[in-house]
Amino acid sequence: MTRPKLLVTRRWPDTVEEALRAQFDVTLNESDEPMSQQALADAMGAYDVLCPTVSDRIDADVIAGGDRVKLIANYGVGFDHIALDAAKAKGIAVTNTPGVLTDATADIALTLLLMAARRAGEGERELRDGRWSGWRPTHLIGSELRGKVLGLVGFGRIGIATARRAHHGFGMKIAYYARRPAEADIAAELQAEFHPVLDDLLGLSDFVSLHVPGGGDTANLINAQSLAKMKAGSYLINTARGGVVDHDALADALRSGHLAGAGLDVYPQEPAVPAALLELESAVLLPHLGSANRETRVAMGMRALANAQAWANGDELPDRIA
Ligand code: DGY
Repeated sequence: MTRPKLLVTRRWPDTVEEALRAQFDVTLNESDEPMSQQALADAMGAYDVLCPTVSDRIDADVIAGGDRVKLIANYGVGFDHIALDAAKAKGIAVTNTPGVLTDATADIALTLLLMAARRAGEGERELRDGRWSGWRPTHLIGSELRGKVLGLVGFGRIGIATARRAHHGFGMKIAYYARRPAEADIAAELQAEFHPVLDDLLGLSDFVSLHVPGGGDTANLINAQSLAKMKAGSYLINTARGGVVDHDALADALRSGHLAGAGLDVYPQEPAVPAALLELESAVLLPHLGSANRETRVAMGMRALANAQAWANGDELPDRIA
């Protein structure tokens, strides 16, 4: 029996690639460089299953490129890089990898929060550059976390995992903005305050952490107007998607001192990083590391494989999003 043809657009951990090969006729993008839009479009006519990542833009033109692909099994939880409507219109199923990167991403949200609050990036740069002149009482003073309000914009799996770390580990108070209130047990565990109006949350939070999907009505959600509503001296953390934030407006808010700091892991046009932010000491900038630990990257691959297997067996897809 011929095995379904599957294309992996970037290299995955070895163990996952081996597991894939046991069941599919796998083509790997050996160069591990991003594939061109044309190459992705051509792949639509040459494979049964396409396994992209957040670094691929699977737009309507790519999807129109051929009629063979029947499943897009994304390696990652976010899917704002895939034109779901175009896929649906062609009867292509789309899956993602929810749940397995929750802890890793929440860890990076806390990493950014701590680094921004304690000016860790600035300090490391100073030390490595040979500019550190020794301990002094007024040197690189940051902010305490205990008792401060962490406002979460979006309160799904990753938002809640971030809140748990901040509340139980660092004594922060939790407030959140979401479409609906959280389950009663979670709200009680975190003593979390629900705010149905975003501006209210922004106005009372010492730290704001973004956990919305990106795209749609979350594009530019944090813009000049919303930044102006944030508390003076507060911090913005983004591990969600770059397009949720207007980075020019953020740079202005940091430059003016209205915001004390920001911690970012994601950018609108990765790998480009908005130049204005690169010049600001108060911005902590990471290269999209949210899910970057060994265990998580293997689990993401295994989850994508489980979806591809289910499709090959004609079973219900565990993580179908379209
Ligand atoms: C995702 O899964 O969407 C992440 O951004 C990749 O780490």
